[in-house]
Amino acid sequence: MSDSDARGKIYDARMMRRLWGYIRPHRMLVSASLVLLFAVSGAQLVQPYLIKRVIDDQIAAGRMDGLGYLALLFLAALLAEFVLRFAQIYVLEQTGQNVVFDLRNESFAHLQRLPSSFFDRNPVGRLMTRLTSDVEALHELFTSGVVMILADLVKLVGIVAILLWMDWRLALVTFTVIPPTLILTWFFRARMRETYRHVRAMLTKLNIELQENVSGMRIVQLFAREREMAESFGETNREHEQAQLRGVRYDSIFSALAELIGSVTLAAIVWAGGWGILEGWVTFGTLVAFIEYAAKFFRPVQELSQRYTVMQAAMAAGERIFDLLDTPVTIRSAAAPTPIHGRLKGEIVFDGVTFGYDPDQPVLHDVSFRIAPGERVGIVGWTGSGKSTLIRLLVRLYDIQAGRILVDGVDIREYELAELRRSIGVVLQDHFLFAGTVENNISLGDSRVTREQVRAAAEAVHVHRLIERLPGGYDENVRERGSNFSTGEKQLFAFARAIAFDPAVLVLDEATASVDPETERRIQQALTTVLSGRTSILIAHRLATVRDADRILVLHHGRLIEQGPHEALLDRPDGIYATLYTLQSA
Ligand SMILES: Nc1ncnc2c1ncn2[C@@H]1O[C@H](COP(=O)(O)OP(=O)(O)OP(=O)(O)O)[C@@H](O)[C@H]1O
Ligand SMILES: [Mg+2]
Repeated sequence: MSDSDARGKIYDARMMRRLWGYIRPHRMLVSASLVLLFAVSGAQLVQPYLIKRVIDDQIAAGRMDGLGYLALLFLAALLAEFVLRFAQIYVLEQTGQNVVFDLRNESFAHLQRLPSSFFDRNPVGRLMTRLTSDVEALHELFTSGVVMILADLVKLVGIVAILLWMDWRLALVTFTVIPPTLILTWFFRARMRETYRHVRAMLTKLNIELQENVSGMRIVQLFAREREMAESFGETNREHEQAQLRGVRYDSIFSALAELIGSVTLAAIVWAGGWGILEGWVTFGTLVAFIEYAAKFFRPVQELSQRYTVMQAAMAAGERIFDLLDTPVTIRSAAAPTPIHGRLKGEIVFDGVTFGYDPDQPVLHDVSFRIAPGERVGIVGWTGSGKSTLIRLLVRLYDIQAGRILVDGVDIREYELAELRRSIGVVLQDHFLFAGTVENNISLGDSRVTREQVRAAAEAVHVHRLIERLPGGYDENVRERGSNFSTGEKQLFAFARAIAFDPAVLVLDEATASVDPETERRIQQALTTVLSGRTSILIAHRLATVRDADRILVLHHGRLIEQGPHEALLDRPDGIYATLYTLQSA
């Protein structure tokens, strides 16, 4: 998904068809809006004609009898225009907002189904732009794009017909405004498109930089990088400004020129009309009406460029949103998934598993092992050896490139994704808390997890008493990303979360790495009961955490090079495990 891929079409039939899918459910509203639109144009177009009648039939003829009646009609037309326009805009906005609502929900739902690799590639700022400004731009398609262009067209056709009917010679003078305006639009079109594309790309870049800087503000401040970051941000900001200004420049030249053409044409009408009055082929009322109509005629022609920009923006935004919606959901449940009846036994088999985040650069090579139901297995290895990657593969955050992963003898790709993930409780290394309450962070709002389960889980990881001591207890407020808790506390909440769901397999990736040794020891003791009857995988750098495991797997550069119980591994003096052990006990 790139940010400047706007192909800049003003009208893309394929996309409009797609968009129609979103409008269809609201087609009654759209039709109502269109009907109202015709009515508004009608009420508008009758006004100059009434003025002509007043001048020609009443004032010029020296009569007063119909004046009150015509004035009332004029007033009624004004009132109708006001009421109808209000209703029309309201109904149209409602449609637009409905479509925005649907699109945004659908984009969000789709985002939720996309695999981890997608989020590796796409910065948060870009995705934020998609779901906010881009969706908003698409909304403009209705409110000032398609519908308004249609409205303008209706009005233009109406005016052309009336003008030709009133006086074809004056009408032709009025129409001279069309060719120069079209040439002007054509001339500026390509430039505006290019500029607009650049503005969008810069906006996305701004969002990405802003998001990253806000998230990493502490590091920026600690390392006193404010100036450099501000400079880099300022540069992007400048580019954005300049792109905008270029757009403004084109826009203002265009409007000024269009205005000029309009004024010259008006002068021509007055000149020709004055001539016509002297020669007697035009009435004074007709001339006044023409001047009025001409003003109504110029506006839409002049606004063409603006509409054009809006349409282009909307098309580009639509393209990016549909790009997002079209991103394939590569990790999904099998078509006819193997159901998990009751609880998994918890047998895990890795069979010749090879995987790389970039398929050309594997980080796991031909890894094979079997974990028996109920077994307690530790995984150790240097930083970057692929331990966490193993876990991500087990719960299908990523899919493997070669080999098989079996759980209870069934390939994990055969299970229903959510069922598989529910059966395997994972405490990830990079724990994350949501804004909300402590309780909600443990149960994740799942109604199947009772209050008692939440408390039992908290007790098991020795965080119950800590929570009780908080002013709000389990209802204590958790700020965004859990910023009001310590790293160890956050880790324990994440730990409690995994246990609360009572999974058949429990995977702990450095789940107690940030906890003090005393708490860790107590958790270890408590875990004996929690882990009994479950298969468990413990990843740890502190070997003390895993030494009691039934078996320990040693990963090195993405290969499984040693395995066995603690003592057996120590018996190989030049083995990796023995080396690690010597280093840690020293
Ligand atoms: N999302 C990712 N995209 C690309 N490469 C990645 C990604 N995550 C990890 N890697 C790379 O894969 C390799 C294995 O990473 P992994 O996280 O599995 O290591 P680890 O053994 O868990 O390390 P640690 O002990 O630091 O937790 C590393 O070389 C890392 O740079
Ligand atoms: Mg890791």
